[in-house]
Amino acid sequence: IDQSINKSTIMAKEEITLSQPLQRNLDTFQNEFWVSKEKLHEIIDVFVQELKKGLHDNDDPYQIPMNPTWVMDYPDGSETGDYLALDLGGTNMRVVIVHLLGNHKFTKVQTKYRLPDHIRTTRKREELFGFMAECLGKFLKEQNPDGIPEGKTFPLGFTFSYPTTQSKIDSGVLQRWTKGFDIPGVEGNDAAALLRDEIEKREIPIKLVALICDTTGTLVASRYTDPDTIMGVIFGTGVNGAYYDVVADVPKIHNQLPDDISLATPMLINCEYGSFDNKHRVLPRTKYDVQIDQESPRPGQQAFEKMTAGYYLGEIIRKILLEGYETGYLFKDLAQDSEGAKKLAKDYILDSSFLSNLESDDTPDLAESKKEFETKLSINTTPEERLYAKKISAFIGTRAARLSICGISAVCQKMNYRKCHVAADGSVYMKYPHFPERAAKGLSDVFGWDGIKEEDHPIKIVKAQDGSGVGAAVIAALTHARNVKGLSLGLKQN
Ligand code: BGC
Repeated sequence: IDQSINKSTIMAKEEITLSQPLQRNLDTFQNEFWVSKEKLHEIIDVFVQELKKGLHDNDDPYQIPMNPTWVMDYPDGSETGDYLALDLGGTNMRVVIVHLLGNHKFTKVQTKYRLPDHIRTTRKREELFGFMAECLGKFLKEQNPDGIPEGKTFPLGFTFSYPTTQSKIDSGVLQRWTKGFDIPGVEGNDAAALLRDEIEKREIPIKLVALICDTTGTLVASRYTDPDTIMGVIFGTGVNGAYYDVVADVPKIHNQLPDDISLATPMLINCEYGSFDNKHRVLPRTKYDVQIDQESPRPGQQAFEKMTAGYYLGEIIRKILLEGYETGYLFKDLAQDSEGAKKLAKDYILDSSFLSNLESDDTPDLAESKKEFETKLSINTTPEERLYAKKISAFIGTRAARLSICGISAVCQKMNYRKCHVAADGSVYMKYPHFPERAAKGLSDVFGWDGIKEEDHPIKIVKAQDGSGVGAAVIAALTHARNVKGLSLGLKQN
């Protein structure tokens, strides 16, 4: 096992010493969570096979979906126009008006709306889509205090970051909910149509022109400003990646291609690789990963996401801490009927900010972590327990970062990309301490860049432009341009 990972990223606190049993226990976790170079190669080989299989057919609901998005042009930064974008995220919803100025430049105005807490699992789909339409209406009113000019319609790009089957650019049938969403009546239905209905009911002057995913938006927005970008990836509440392939390599759409789309036409593919290895052939799952999967609303789905995405990282450490408590390693004075014990037993009470905060605590006796345990779990900790939890966080965070780059490596291998930029967005990439360095180290291990400085790595993960807003706008602009030219934007209609 390569111990070097943690040397730079976990500051051992000289003043805190772990007892032998706790240290032994920690060593076991380190082994279990470490993904070696050899294992990364093994995973990437299977990943490449799965990417190809997904482009070939839709036969298997457990394979990577590899969804064609009907974005068939590369932006060149000259696109102009004003577009609305609506982004449904895990915890917030954003409405953005983007002014594309050409010359790779844009300006934007945005408002964030907090999603009502229960909405992830509401029983009424109208509540979610109605809420989105309401926010759009409110936003337009605020932006047009003197009233909306008669006859004006705003083109909208809808960022709906869940796997959808698109037969054309302005529709998307939800394949399955991810990231803890579980609202009946949406899977198997066109999410664009559901939103359109609610917009029409309220007579809001908006035309939904494109449905996109955050990864797709990230790629296109970053490419609008940086032509070296070949992939858009999200390391956030969920994980996923998107890249441009060519139609020739997407056999599953060949028998319904309109005449103006040739085999040489580029096709942006939303991989939806959060569902990589749903058959559990190669990912090194621990018993905690297995439990998280079994207890989730969609067992058997999103195997890769469940080990790497922000939505699950807090739950992994909670399970480990709970086990430590139940077996008598941790929190020895915590009474069984205490507030702390109850909180610790509560599913998903911790999110990835818990691990982030522990990992970034460099105070001598981990005083920040002490507060973190008190506020989030109502538990009084010893310095030793805090150091233990900090190290466990680093194992979980490092595993997530190293696994995350397998999707990037597989796409680069398939497309033979040797030197390029990968645009990354998402809370984990942007906020989780050391995640970018750990991911870069993972890529370096895979491609053998030992001794090359991170800034000189040939494949570089860079911070993305705001994909869900600007990307949706650029895609709406590309769609508009195709419409003007009378070009197809989807499968041949029978
Ligand atoms: C969704 C993807 C999305 C990713 C990141 C996954 O759960 O299925 O569509 O891109 O999360 O938000």
